[in-house]
Amino acid sequence: MIFIGSDHGGFELKEKIKVFLREKGVEFEDLGTFSEESCDYPDIAESVAQKVAQTDSKGILICGTGIGMSIAANKVKGIRCALCHDAYTAEYARKHNNANIIAFGGRTTGVEIAKQMVEIFLREEFEGGRHKRRIDKIAKMEGV
Ligand code: RB5
Repeated sequence: MIFIGSDHGGFELKEKIKVFLREKGVEFEDLGTFSEESCDYPDIAESVAQKVAQTDSKGILICGTGIGMSIAANKVKGIRCALCHDAYTAEYARKHNNANIIAFGGRTTGVEIAKQMVEIFLREEFEGGRHKRRIDKIAKMEGV
């Protein structure tokens, strides 16, 4: 089970990504927003980030640029939210950063790139090794 959320700036792209996830047979829970009405991205980022941290799963967050979502999600302990723009950043967000949430922008990212990034993000594994040492240093900053 993965968790997905957006604000109004990412709503349209979120709906397209949901269709893609269904086609791929990926189970997900949509934590909002549920319309194009203006809302505050930190509320959605917090909901998705809490669920991901509690269930040790993965999440997808979309706002206008992905920036606000990534800043907010990274305030939750245990969250490594990566703002991605292409296949390469999505791949290395998993391989080197063990990112558990991917963020991108509904106003900056085309649907085909977004689908490609989601597929890569859900498929790739953390490489561990020297990268684990670095992730552990980040966790230490959180007091884990
Ligand atoms: C909303 O207009 C916009 O600020 C938001 O979607 C996001 O891009 C913030 O980072």
